[in-house]
Formats: sequence, C-alpha cells, structure tokens
Amino acid sequence: MFVTMDPARGQEAVGGTPGNRCCWLIAAILCQLALACAADGPPGAAIASAHPLATRAGLETLQNGGNAFDAAVTVSAALAVVEPYSSGIGGGGFWLLHRASDGRQIMVDGREKAPGAAYRRLYLDEHDNVREGASLEGALAAGIPGLAAGLGHLATNFGRLPIGKSLAPAVRLAREGFPVTQGYRDMAGWRLKALQKHPETARLYLANNALPEFGHPIIQEDLGNLLEQIGMNGPGYFYQGQFAQRLVEGVRAGGGIWSLEDLRNYVVAERAPIVTEYRGIRVVSAPPPSSGGIVLVQALEILEHEDLAGIDHITRMHIVIEAMRRAYRDRAVYLGDPDFVEVPTDRLLAPDYLAGLALTIDPKRATPSAELGDTPGLSLRGESTTHFSIMDTDGNRVAGTLSINLPFGAAFVPPGTGVLLNDEMDDFSIKPNTPNAYGLVGDHANSVAANKRPLSSMTPTFVETEDRIGILGTPGGSRIISMVLLGVLDFGDGHGPESWVKVRRYHHQYLPDEVQFEPHGLVAYEQEELRRLGHTLKQTSYSYGDMHAVMWDRKNNQIFAAADPRGEGKAALLPDP
Ligand code: GLY
Repeated sequence: MFVTMDPARGQEAVGGTPGNRCCWLIAAILCQLALACAADGPPGAAIASAHPLATRAGLETLQNGGNAFDAAVTVSAALAVVEPYSSGIGGGGFWLLHRASDGRQIMVDGREKAPGAAYRRLYLDEHDNVREGASLEGALAAGIPGLAAGLGHLATNFGRLPIGKSLAPAVRLAREGFPVTQGYRDMAGWRLKALQKHPETARLYLANNALPEFGHPIIQEDLGNLLEQIGMNGPGYFYQGQFAQRLVEGVRAGGGIWSLEDLRNYVVAERAPIVTEYRGIRVVSAPPPSSGGIVLVQALEILEHEDLAGIDHITRMHIVIEAMRRAYRDRAVYLGDPDFVEVPTDRLLAPDYLAGLALTIDPKRATPSAELGDTPGLSLRGESTTHFSIMDTDGNRVAGTLSINLPFGAAFVPPGTGVLLNDEMDDFSIKPNTPNAYGLVGDHANSVAANKRPLSSMTPTFVETEDRIGILGTPGGSRIISMVLLGVLDFGDGHGPESWVKVRRYHHQYLPDEVQFEPHGLVAYEQEELRRLGHTLKQTSYSYGDMHAVMWDRKNNQIFAAADPRGEGKAALLPDP
C-alpha cells in the first residue's frame, strides 16, 4: 500500500507515557491500532464534481458499498446526463487512478478516436481551405466515443459493484429529468444556433426551439434506456450489434463517416502517468494523448530552479508566467497521440533541458515569445469540459476529466439513440500551421489520421507528500494546464482545496504572446507591475475554469473537498460532518 504510517504521531504517543511500563504498552498498542486505522485510509470519503446531482449520485454509490472507482462510473455517467454541454456518452475522457491496495497508478484513456475513414485533409476543401465549421458541428465533427468503454473498464478492472448498479442513478436522472440552471442556459445560449439546426438535438435540449427557462426539466428517455442497457449488457451494447448499427446509420445520414468497424474496434488504453518530484511534492498527471502532464511538469521543473519563496510577489508572478510561456511552447510541436507519433517525453522532461530553459528567464523583463524561436500557437477551446475528484475511505482515488469539446459537442444526436455527439475532431490540428476557427495552429504530431486520438489539454492530477494527498483538475481548454499549475503551487504553499479552487487565474501559452487573466485575476498594481516588466495583458470577458478538488490531510487525519465558486458544482464528504 502506498500510504504508510506517520512516524511523527508514533513518537508523540510513545513520548506521552513515560515511567509506567504497563501504561506504555497499552498506549503503544492503542497507538499502533490508531496508526493502522489511519494507514488504511482517510476518515471519510469525498467527492467534488461540477453538478450537485452528480456528486449526490456518487455518494449514493459509495453508500451502496461501491469504492471510488464505482463512484467514478456513477459520477461520469451522471455528469453525462446533467451536463450535456460538458461531457457525455457521445464523448470521452481520462480517469487518473490510484488503487490503495497496491499503490498502482494509471490513467485510463477513454479519449475519442478518429474514424477509420478520416484522413489528414478531411476538413479542408479542394483549395486547401478549412471547411468552416466542419470539425465543430454535425456528425462529421465527431470522433468515436470512448466514455462507455472507459466506464466498462473502470467497473470491470477496478470497481466492486456491477456496472448496472453504478449506472442506476444516471438512468434515473435521465428518465426523471433535471432542472435547467443558469450554467445550462449560458452554455445552450452559446450554441443556440447549432442546437436549433438539428431537430433531434433541439427536441432534447431546447424548449419549443428556444432557450429553456430556468427550472425547465430536461428529460432524456433514450439516454436513460441506453445507460440501462449498458448496465445490463456491458459497454459492448454501445459498440456492437443493433444499437451500434443505429448509431452508424444516424451518423452517416448526418454526413459523418463512422463505420461499424470503428465502433467495434474502439478500445481504451491504460497509460503510465507523467510523474515528477517538485520541492518534495510528488506530482502525478496525465500523459499523452494529453499534453497536460508534460506541460505541467515542464513548468514545475523550470520553477524548481527559481527561489520562489525568497522573491517578491510580482517577481514570483512574472517567473511563473515565464515558466508557462516556455512549457507551452513545446506542446504544439511535439505532442500528439503516442500510438501514432513518437512523443519525445524523455527529451522534453530532461533536467538539463529544463535547467537550460530556466536560465533563459530574465527576472527583470518579459521574454518576447518570438525570442524563444518560432513554433505554432494554441487555441482556447474546450471550455465546456468537466472534472471531478473522488477519494474513498480505503484511499482509492480518481481524478476524472471528461469532454465532448464545445458546449453540446457537435450539437448532433443520431435520432433515437440519445447520444449527443462530441466535436473532439476539432482538437486535431486541422491544417498544420494555419489557424482554425479558434485561432489554433498546430503541427504534424497532431494532424488528423484514421483511428488517431486528438491531442488534449485535460490534466487530471494527484499531488502527494508524506502528510497530504491532493486530487485536482478542471475544464478550460488550453488554460486547463496553467490552472492546474497554479493549484499545485498553492498546494505547495500549504493551502487546502478550498484555496486551490479559488486561486486567481492568469495564463500564458507562448502564443499569442500575452498574459490572459480572468476578471479580478490580476489586481491593478499587479497589472501595472507586469506591464512594466514588458508583459502584454489581456483580461478575459468571463471567469474561466471549474476546478473540483479533494485533499486528505494524513497528519491530522482529515479529509477536505472543494468546488470551484465560479461554477455550480458541489463538494461533499461522507459521512457528512
Ligand atoms: N476538448 C478539450 C481537450 O481535450 O483539451
């Protein structure tokens, strides 16, 4: 088991009973018992997710005897129902796992794959121009979904409960409906035209083809039936047989290129996480096809060379921005699906390379990105992804980040299936070195190819010290990684999850060469000082991110969970204190 006794507490108990051998023995035995209990796991379980109904559903599974992995199945499925704008059975995601019984840590990669008929120029016209919207809306925009396979993998290989039991709360939510919230209205408003264009989508997610009122119930009968069938027959129900046939027919009728073979051949991958040691903190994060872990670790390793504790507040902020700038630079050039391209992970994380990058930081001046050499930039997409964190009383952990890309994905539902399709194909670089609709330019490593997974920024992460174990992650497109970085630095400063989720957010991603910050992300004097150092600043028109985090304080044997105040999520403990 990864979790070990806390030697400090042992010393304290022994030292408190001198001079009496009998009392000493009893105290020693009691102490060992207490330590054994503490070593077994935290004093309670914790869930933090982006929707109160999903958190509640996860608690139900824990109360029914499920472990964190069963609860992850429940929460993922429930989020697929109640946040159709963020993730779904028509999408995919990453689940970073820690199994307490043997300390095993892996990432279950349920990322979508390009259909077998996809090819490099799929979204370009005969003049090599990007076909407007083709990778963003409608059936052609959808990759082969990985969520159902991911849930099956979690339940079969890590869970305790039959998958049907873990899916039951989501089936209920789909059939009984959930009320429209302000968040729902914001997301549906963003994609209103796309939702209105497709009658099945409008029937399910709008009210009389208009934005539904606050409180309006969203009922998804077909999705409930599908989840129930997956519960009874396993994920094969989704990928093979009559249901798969219906999906493929619907996709092809909508202009897509899926085949039955694509669905039948979809498999999840188990991938070794990216791990580093940063100032005594073990950081465990998402490997490719996510860019998250590599960029996060690069930034932390660069920062390891800086005296963050000994410098003033503004210089620290400037150095963190410069580390972001450098870490994001490599992303677009080298990162892609590791099953297709050789990702030079060792080279990108080599201590000498990162020490060299740290040396290029001038504490008194912003480095123009152009000075670091030319490389493609990044988009700001994927705002609508979702994240949850779970820990159970055995100490099992899940950091799950799931997505269908833009709000409501491709805005297309093959009729009668209940499957709202993703538009994750837009996470490929559609045309190398040419900005797409979101300003993205990328390179060969992430170009479109048959059966390939698009590069992601999702960064489910664990942070571990002797005393504290944290789980965190967030949606937010390319800003995901910088948000997790700021969260990890806040953990390093000794704060708990209530603080990580609130951290004021600023971001640099190499190109565009600007520091983006949310409203109130930088106060006036910070803006002034950063400008003086040569940074160009750009305030976003909205607060971004929706971080959900859990922490077990092993020293004091306490558990904490926190939901991002920017969103509508809910953090809960079991038992409820
Ligand atoms: N679709 C958002 C991401 O994977 O980064």
